[in-house]
Amino acid sequence: MEGRNSIHPPSSTFKYLQSIFYHLPSIMKSSISFVCQECGYDSPSWLGKCPECGTWNSLREFKTQKSLHSQGLAGRANLKTFESTENVKPRTLGEIKSSEKERLSTGFSEMDGVLGGGIVAGSVILLAGDPGIGKSTLLLQVGLTLAQTNSNVLYVSGEESVEQIKLRALRIMEHPKQKEQFKLLSINDADTIVEVVQDAKPSLLIIDSIQTMESRAVGGMAGSIAQIRYATALFTRLAKTLSIPTILVGHVTKEGMVAGPMILSHMVDAVLFFEGEKTTNTRILRSFKNRFGPVDEVGIFSMEEKGIIEIKNPQHFLREYSSKTSGSVLASTLEGTRAFLVEIQGLVVSSKLPIPRRVVSGIDGKRLELLLAVLQKHISLPIGMMDVFVNVAGGLKLTDRGTDLAICLSLFSSLKNIPLIGTVAIAEVGLLGELRTVPYLEKRIKEAQKLGFKNIISYNAHKTLSEAIRSLGK
Ligand code: TYD
Ligand code: MG
Repeated sequence: MEGRNSIHPPSSTFKYLQSIFYHLPSIMKSSISFVCQECGYDSPSWLGKCPECGTWNSLREFKTQKSLHSQGLAGRANLKTFESTENVKPRTLGEIKSSEKERLSTGFSEMDGVLGGGIVAGSVILLAGDPGIGKSTLLLQVGLTLAQTNSNVLYVSGEESVEQIKLRALRIMEHPKQKEQFKLLSINDADTIVEVVQDAKPSLLIIDSIQTMESRAVGGMAGSIAQIRYATALFTRLAKTLSIPTILVGHVTKEGMVAGPMILSHMVDAVLFFEGEKTTNTRILRSFKNRFGPVDEVGIFSMEEKGIIEIKNPQHFLREYSSKTSGSVLASTLEGTRAFLVEIQGLVVSSKLPIPRRVVSGIDGKRLELLLAVLQKHISLPIGMMDVFVNVAGGLKLTDRGTDLAICLSLFSSLKNIPLIGTVAIAEVGLLGELRTVPYLEKRIKEAQKLGFKNIISYNAHKTLSEAIRSLGK
């Protein structure tokens, strides 16, 4: 009973909690915060495991200058100077200028398509990709092309010196015209960039890369989550207030995109990924998020000796197709909403190893394991003790299940040593050996027919893998 008496009555408990909440902001106004390096979760105290993403030992200490608290969020003080009061006045729809017409063309119709018709005024685009994939080259070309049409382009690099960029520019275009419209700056200081941009008011701003940008207002080194977020917020505000379209380059780090571009995706208008195997020339520009356009469009490019060129010809991936030998089957795959024909090459040889090798290039290794199991079980192919190699010619990375049947047939063709010249296969293969239909089947078939291929094996004609194999008549 004594214990009971010592408990605060409900009203005083409420007052006690109220006083804690009242003082909480001042208690929390610490100049140190702990930020998760994986997802950017911000905590006032150190924690062993991030409560947001569950990663262990990922919180790092950051000292935030007191002045930032007084400035408010994300460089508000820095940007206040150029924010006009007009922006604070509520306006009717009729009073708002439509920016639809103000799209800037990048000079690459493939890139314009991915963006939904070009770059929207004041939009912020994050161009993400592996280091060395060609992001700087692509943007330099975009910048140089735009500069030729009287647009002022400011290319800010935090990674390379202006001399290095000039060398690259000379490699791309031997005599860049309208050079005065294209300005370069090699700097890491985000605050100074804001000042330069306010003065120069370029029609396109390129920041290469967001990971190298640093502001005095935040603690931590360039590349830390706090710095990346701050710089992105700063440039986004700058872009919106001055209506300057901005492209930010973001490297995808080894740990995955989480530590880089993904934590920024909600802050920007569009996230584009530039992908490809570094060993091949093919590059694909994909949109992951786009406030002003579709997300299922892709742009296809090729990294050449003198810069990047766009690939509009659907036959591009078949330019080396001349196969008369066994192991080659064509697949009609979908990239975005476009169908492309690609050559799948399979090689099956007897293995000398206790665990046979499965080597893939351009397809998922786990998918191959599954297809091999189906071939063994439902077609009785003695493939278990064989080394299996699969390659997608032309450098495309396929995740499309519509290419399953082509993979299976290429392995069958190699194992039985039966050439399947000009055969196009389109279907997903299920675990029971059944064929399944795939999105845009008619479009894929049409693309194959357009290129003159008549022998098309698809879900339309056959419902099981064994039926499809029997139809080969071999
Ligand atoms: P880069 O644009 O620097 O990649 P990122 O900015 O994504 O890190 O491209 C680097 C690679 O591209 C490098 O290996 C050289 C190659 N390259 C070409 O093949 N052709 C060219 O015209 C240029 C400029 C680069
Ligand atoms: Mg680069």
